[in-house]
Amino acid sequence: MAKLKIGVIGAGSISDVHFQSYENHPDVEIYAICDLNEERAKAKAARYGATKTFTDYRELLALPEIHGVSVCTWNNTHAPIAIAALDAGKHVLVEKPLCKTVEEALEVEKAVARSGKLLQVGFVRRYASNTQTLKKFVDDGEFGEIYYAKASCLRRLGNPGGWFSDVERSGGGPLIDLGVHVIDICWYLMGRPKVVSVSGNAYNKLGNRNNVQGLSFYKAADYDASKNTVEDLANALIRFENGASLMVDVSFTLHAKKDELYVKLFGEKGGAELEPELQLVLERHNTILNATPQVDNLSFDFKDAFQQEINRFISASLGEKATLSPVQDGVEMMKILCAIYESAASGKEIRFDT
Ligand SMILES: NC(=O)c1ccc[n+]([C@@H]2O[C@H](COP(=O)([O-])OP(=O)(O)OC[C@H]3O[C@@H](n4cnc5c(N)ncnc54)[C@H](O)[C@@H]3O)[C@@H](O)[C@H]2O)c1
Repeated sequence: MAKLKIGVIGAGSISDVHFQSYENHPDVEIYAICDLNEERAKAKAARYGATKTFTDYRELLALPEIHGVSVCTWNNTHAPIAIAALDAGKHVLVEKPLCKTVEEALEVEKAVARSGKLLQVGFVRRYASNTQTLKKFVDDGEFGEIYYAKASCLRRLGNPGGWFSDVERSGGGPLIDLGVHVIDICWYLMGRPKVVSVSGNAYNKLGNRNNVQGLSFYKAADYDASKNTVEDLANALIRFENGASLMVDVSFTLHAKKDELYVKLFGEKGGAELEPELQLVLERHNTILNATPQVDNLSFDFKDAFQQEINRFISASLGEKATLSPVQDGVEMMKILCAIYESAASGKEIRFDT
């Protein structure tokens, strides 16, 4: 079989892990790269052996030989690029978040329907081996009904700057950037229940603290600390139709002793922690057991999770398997994230029609 030609649009920080995963895939050829920054596109093309480079994604999408694209650009461009790609007959892997607004998300969903092409949302944590191990226990009813989940992703110093901290291009701060991951993974493991209400708070108290020295953190390719119009902390309580609830807090910066990441699920028969390490909490013979699965990766394995995500994108694009993260889930996540921002701005709970 001829190799499938892949294009990558947006050749900044996260694109490397897309390129590396495509490079490892035996049926794929990294064919074309587009970035607004021509030098960056050319440097990545040299590094990953791509034949063509562009600064306008429309030119890349006009190539009939391209099978699918990764969209690794700023959040405000996800929807227009994904829609153009689908309409050009390409399969699309779009980085999280799907886009900036619910309206955009619904437009992307329509484009998927009219094109008949695949759109996979980059909810990479779903593809991690610790998640998939836990999912087997969840699906088998080991924990009974999961009625409560709690997730926290707190960076004490970690505003990536540049477009990430410009609300026009990002759509928001830690909530849309980090919250999207942890809310999604809880929601996915809870069985994707219908959301009925959201109550949230967002704070813009500390700025980006670019005065702090001696600690390194993830940065946008064009790091720039001069503009910061996003929240630095957000929290929320999300209620679902089945009575389950999810509590979450996320920060780009906070006066916390250390960074913190946890994802916890609580069910009628047992519970589990996905992060910081996979752990099952069970009850047998009137005894509580904290059980540790004996697997290579108890925590999120960044490289392997992206590899699994890309592998599934390719197999789903060929109709061999269903994607684990379809456009509909991206739409639901945008409803939740946007409702949290709306609730924070209005000081009121947001209710959804059920
Ligand atoms: N899944 C994850 O864990 C994860 C981690 C980091 C970032 N991301 C997501 O990946 C995306 C990119 O993030 P990043 O950290 O690589 O940012 P980045 O700033 O390092 O790179 C973005 C690149 O996109 C380019 N770009 C922007 N608009 C473009 C357009 N219209 N056409 C072509 N190129 C364009 C920029 O020039 C830049 O090189 C974001 O949506 C972010 O949320 C996901």
